[in-house]
Amino acid sequence: MSIIADDNDFEQKKVKKNPVIKAESIEFDKNFENSIRPKSFDTYIGQSALKETLKISIEAAKKRGLPLDHLLFYGPPGLGKTTLAGVIAEQTGVEIKITSAPALERPRDIIGILMSLKGGEILFIDEIHRLNKVAEEILYPAMEDFYLDMTTGKSQTVKTLRIPLPKFTLIGATTKAGELSGPLRDRFGIIHRLEFYSEDELAQVIKRTAGILDIEINDEGAYAIAKRSRGTPRIANRLVKRVSDFALVKYDGKITADIANQALDVLKIDNYGLDNTDRSLLKLIIEKYNGGPVGIETIAAAIGEDTRTIEDVCEPFLLQAGLLQRTPRGRKVSPAAYKHLGYKCQSEQQTLWQ
Ligand code: ADE
Repeated sequence: MSIIADDNDFEQKKVKKNPVIKAESIEFDKNFENSIRPKSFDTYIGQSALKETLKISIEAAKKRGLPLDHLLFYGPPGLGKTTLAGVIAEQTGVEIKITSAPALERPRDIIGILMSLKGGEILFIDEIHRLNKVAEEILYPAMEDFYLDMTTGKSQTVKTLRIPLPKFTLIGATTKAGELSGPLRDRFGIIHRLEFYSEDELAQVIKRTAGILDIEINDEGAYAIAKRSRGTPRIANRLVKRVSDFALVKYDGKITADIANQALDVLKIDNYGLDNTDRSLLKLIIEKYNGGPVGIETIAAAIGEDTRTIEDVCEPFLLQAGLLQRTPRGRKVSPAAYKHLGYKCQSEQQTLWQ
């Protein structure tokens, strides 16, 4: 696997000057995540409907001797979009090159990557909804007919060169499918939403991660962490490490339900999995805006977070947990949020929620 450029890592500036950097040469912030990523469909837990579709598509592509259709994965962050792309590469026996749309600022960034691909390889573009118009237009013929249109010269002497590309598979990932342009969306053969994980699935993820990291945990301990992981394996994996630290310093290192609950209380993660930011957001709407509706910018300014973090990280789970609602006039909290945070819910709020 080679990481070409990733907007999320702290090496971004270095990467911009040198867009092709092997994963091994970069000290990643994501080292931990990479070390526990499953590499096969058997070890990848959850998303069973999607896995079945993918297995069939991979088999069909192999029988036809063609690369897999372009794939678009969407859904909240941390549900395993990049991991799944890695699994697909492993299962098809091809290389994967990983980048993210904000790192493809200049036309030569995307052109360079496309020209570096070999036949059958996978190009993974994270946050693909953030691709700029120029990069998008370069991608259209590359995705559809595997060529690049390059122009040389000026005004009257301008010439278009058509450069063939090897057949490749693009895997796009986004937290905001709605922000993708129609023409780009239409060029993906398979479009799939990743779902939040059940507690059972998260407990399995937690036990697998604990096994890799040599952390002792019993079933009850795994479930206690799973319950507060917001349906998200990335969060579950982070919590295993934090809880393990706590277990090691305060006890004998083994994670039980009691120890997990104590550690999560210290971390201020409540029994819905909400952290301080989530609670501030809900409390603000309750206390200052009488339950809402209130605009996202107002919320962001008041709690000191940027709107993108609120929309991409906090909201998906609050919406799915039924604690928050999006309306054309802004965000509203539910009676369940009042109850959870220990506020009395006036009947007015009950009606407003409808
Ligand atoms: N770690 C992160 N996502 C995972 C998944 N779906 N299965 C197993 N381990 C994971």
